[in-house]
Amino acid sequence: MRKVITYGTFDLFHRGHYNILKRAKEEGDYLVVGVTGESYDAERGKLSVQDSLATRIENVRKTGFVDQIFVEEYLGQKILDIIKYDIDVLVIGSDWKGKFDHLQKYCEVKYLERTKNISSTQIREEEMLNYRFGIVTDDLYDGENVTEPKHVSGIHLESVFSADKKIAEEFCEKYELDSGYSDYDEFLKSVDIVYIKSGRKGRYEYIRGALLQKKHVICDAPHTLETGKEKELMELAKEQGVVLYNNITTLYLQAFGQLTWNARGNLIGDIISIKCSISKEQFDSEKEMDFIDLSIYPICMIVKLLGADYEKVSYKLVRNEEGEVVYGMFMFMYGESVASIEVGFDSSLELEGAMKIVGTNGVIIVPNEWWRIGYFKVKNKEDKNFKRYSFNFEGNGFRYLVQDLLLLIRNGRTQSQRLKSSELETIIGIMADIEQELNRRSEQ
Ligand code: CTP
Repeated sequence: MRKVITYGTFDLFHRGHYNILKRAKEEGDYLVVGVTGESYDAERGKLSVQDSLATRIENVRKTGFVDQIFVEEYLGQKILDIIKYDIDVLVIGSDWKGKFDHLQKYCEVKYLERTKNISSTQIREEEMLNYRFGIVTDDLYDGENVTEPKHVSGIHLESVFSADKKIAEEFCEKYELDSGYSDYDEFLKSVDIVYIKSGRKGRYEYIRGALLQKKHVICDAPHTLETGKEKELMELAKEQGVVLYNNITTLYLQAFGQLTWNARGNLIGDIISIKCSISKEQFDSEKEMDFIDLSIYPICMIVKLLGADYEKVSYKLVRNEEGEVVYGMFMFMYGESVASIEVGFDSSLELEGAMKIVGTNGVIIVPNEWWRIGYFKVKNKEDKNFKRYSFNFEGNGFRYLVQDLLLLIRNGRTQSQRLKSSELETIIGIMADIEQELNRRSEQ
């Protein structure tokens, strides 16, 4: 008996899928199909799959060509599948030409011509309501955040606004957007979702303007250091029926969800201490960030893990000879736990960017760059060895945030559960204190 295997996501099942399954079956006597799992698709950055795994499996089954179906869950699984199912030939569409040649050691590999003029992506783009996405910026540099939303189906990158006409024009040309504006109201008319990446001073006005025009907003964090103003913006967003997001990508990474689950669900007991550090040079070097922009990451993390009702926070800022803050240490006291954060603004400090969470019954370690978390390990007292968790993500994480926002909009909701308003208020309160300290010292 000649056994055939093929793989796919099979989202929004179409005739291209039907044809490849039919032809795959014709290659042998027994057809095995691997349908990609949801986490695997998310890990490889395929974020817009519409049908559930159960629906996709059912659609493959209904063709009647398939003898066995399983879920493809991780990269590198194919070799084991070929051995496990005793496969003679792997069949795959020509869009993968050359990509699976290394499997020829295990079985025959055949690339079949794709059915022309159809794909899941095309159907998604035709059928789904597209949201026009625009960027507010002060400078020509954007890192990856212009290209990131392109990976989310249903987003069309439309335009850019900059108060400086020249920047708007050059930005538009550089990133091949449809139009560049230096008139904010005109710009707002051209978009549904606005990403504001301007300096902190301008953020409040830009957000307010966009919300008043019923536009969904993503803005770099913190939006403002006045709790009253943040509250006002949140209420305005609610009233207008639109979404307001803080651009803190960590909150949208799957590994972060797994970490919070481990830390807050009783797996390591009650948290006794959290220690973490973060350093400017571990961020994209061209990204404009000041001490506040950087500190919000660890402060947000502590509030997410230990809650908003701390008893006391104290800090120490250290300056260089020019009077600039190069290092900060923050201590958070809670009833039964404590958190310490180091924030570095100078590469010579060599902060390693790790995080350690110690509980009454175990420990969690993120060895590096915890704000871009893709891996961590957990050990509780009963375990001999660490359990390791890893979850890849593509790009810089921004696309996962955009995808989350789109889901919220499509479900007709306005409140994200990733960062509650009580948590945000606490974070802003702390940041405002730090800013006062920063200003007080620089005035001296
Ligand atoms: N396929 C095909 N002809 C098409 C579309 C897909 O032969 N017009 C094949 C692919 O080459 C692959 C299988 O169907 O072997 C499953 O592909 P999948 O990635 O699920 O479908 P796409 O339509 O390519 O999906 P997307 O647009 O999301 O990449």
